[in-house]
Amino acid sequence: MKRAVEELAIFGGTPLFDSIKPVGQLAVPPLDAYLERLRPIFHEHRLSGNGPVVAELERRLAEYHGVSHCIAVANACVGLVMVLRQLVGGKRGNAIVPAFSYSGIPHIVQWAGQMPKFCDVERRRHGLDPVAVDRAIDEDTTVILAVANVHGTCEIDALQEIASRRKVPIVFDSVSALGASFGGKMLGSFGRAEVFSLHATKMLNGFEGGYITTNDDALAQVLRDQRNSGVVNARLNEMHAALALLCVDQLDDVIGRNEARYRAYERELASVEGLELLRYVDEAREHYTYQMAFVAVTDRWPLTREDTVKVLRAERAFAMPYYSPALHHSSHCPIGVAVPELPVAEELARLFMYLPGGEHTTIDDVASCGELLRFVHEHGDEIRRRLSENAA
Ligand SMILES: Cc1ncc(COP(=O)(O)O)c(C=O)c1O
Repeated sequence: MKRAVEELAIFGGTPLFDSIKPVGQLAVPPLDAYLERLRPIFHEHRLSGNGPVVAELERRLAEYHGVSHCIAVANACVGLVMVLRQLVGGKRGNAIVPAFSYSGIPHIVQWAGQMPKFCDVERRRHGLDPVAVDRAIDEDTTVILAVANVHGTCEIDALQEIASRRKVPIVFDSVSALGASFGGKMLGSFGRAEVFSLHATKMLNGFEGGYITTNDDALAQVLRDQRNSGVVNARLNEMHAALALLCVDQLDDVIGRNEARYRAYERELASVEGLELLRYVDEAREHYTYQMAFVAVTDRWPLTREDTVKVLRAERAFAMPYYSPALHHSSHCPIGVAVPELPVAEELARLFMYLPGGEHTTIDDVASCGELLRFVHEHGDEIRRRLSENAA
């Protein structure tokens, strides 16, 4: 551990970690189990195109989410574009989206022929603010794309009520919330459809991939037809589905390890003044996957969030600013879209970073991060002075 400021890696010292401590889940099954799963795929020459492994994955996931249909697709982006295109039915207008969210959101709605209308978020779950959504809906609104966050989903009930009262279809991007519940019910059957990812950094690893869940029989049929035809070509192949299936089997264990890491961050950060771990909403009642440790960098912390991220990354602890800048102030905001004041989204985008997590971060690594952060707090003035000297 560091004994003096010059031992920090940012000032030339040896990094705290031998290898990068990433932020993604990166859960894999045992290699032998995966190779065993590949054998029949090779023998039967069913490599892609509605094969038996994709069908089995869809059955398992439909059961897991308690929903009638699961349609596996090549990735979540294409799944979202397919659902949005279907629900807007050829109209061009605005899609209501959160301003504090994944950078791909404004691009996804444009691929679906819509312009994003950025709305503010609420402070509890950081999802679309229902009051702002109700106010933002106008005659050009074609769809609401709500995003469920890893630490608290979003205000699903209130958003669904608005969507049905205002007669606007609502879709949930649940990529970050696979394994979470709302009101005690597993995500998957809310809105007209929900979309999940099978990217390696997410809860279920299929290398790449995604899936759509819905209880709407007609919508499911159209999406299935489009996926396999020239309309979209969004097929998931058998080898990716095989990996994801094995990851479904180990999902509970992965969540258990995530929670242990999160509780370790809780213990460590309790004694770090100025950094506040973001709490999961209504933990006694809901399921969460505890995938990420989000931390608010408050005024009581001696460094800016950006400098803190630099210090951590030099130590190979791959911290990241969280959804920053807010989308309406970012390069992802399309030209011509009015940039309103959205104070909550702007504040959250300034405040948060996330710390290493997932399968490559051990409980000991979390303890080392805690010790490092206590050291940074203790020597904050000197670190700040040296960083500004180096920048000059
Ligand atoms: C909220 C959200 N939506 C959609 C996506 C896109 O997922 P995919 O990489 O499977 O296309 C991501 C990816 O990080 C995301 O975080």
